[in-house]
Amino acid sequence: MPDKDMLSMAKIKVLFVCLGNICRSPMAQFVLRQMVAQKGLSERFEIDSAATENYNELCHAGIHHGTRAMLKNRGVPFEEHYSRCLRPEDYARFDYILAMDESNVREITRITGPDIDGKIFRLLDFSNRPRDIEDPWYTGDFAAAYRDIDEGCRAFLQYLHRPPAKILSCSSLKSSV
Ligand code: 4NP
Repeated sequence: MPDKDMLSMAKIKVLFVCLGNICRSPMAQFVLRQMVAQKGLSERFEIDSAATENYNELCHAGIHHGTRAMLKNRGVPFEEHYSRCLRPEDYARFDYILAMDESNVREITRITGPDIDGKIFRLLDFSNRPRDIEDPWYTGDFAAAYRDIDEGCRAFLQYLHRPPAKILSCSSLKSSV
């Protein structure tokens, strides 16, 4: 049983990252938490989220109302979360740092330094159609963000069960060019 295999492993620490940490990354944090809870795996995961910019942390900004509405609409439990900026020490603390788009990846490495352990990916790098997740702060389309995040989280969990040899992190892709 794959779920039992995963239960016997060390805790998997996942940090979702976006620009502001009020729209996409908290949505992903609570969607993945629900998915692992439904598999009885909550104890095996630590799941958090962070921003690449600190302005929302400085304003003590909570989850955007569009993300709240979407999570409520889809029956995803969530709690209050206040934006916090990614810190250099997060790189060592987390096993997977999952960005929403390519510009997030660049900003993450500006903060953490180079991805020497291959921990940084875009969430949809795990899907059959690797791509960015558009920012609903600009598009207003929280339903599209939810669909992409749901797809990415499902693909990420499948990857954890059986990591395909060919998946490359964004930084690996860049360094191989
Ligand atoms: P997020 O969206 O990166 O998905 O949280 C944004 C939220 C806030 C801002 C930009 C993007 N902002 O400029 O405050």
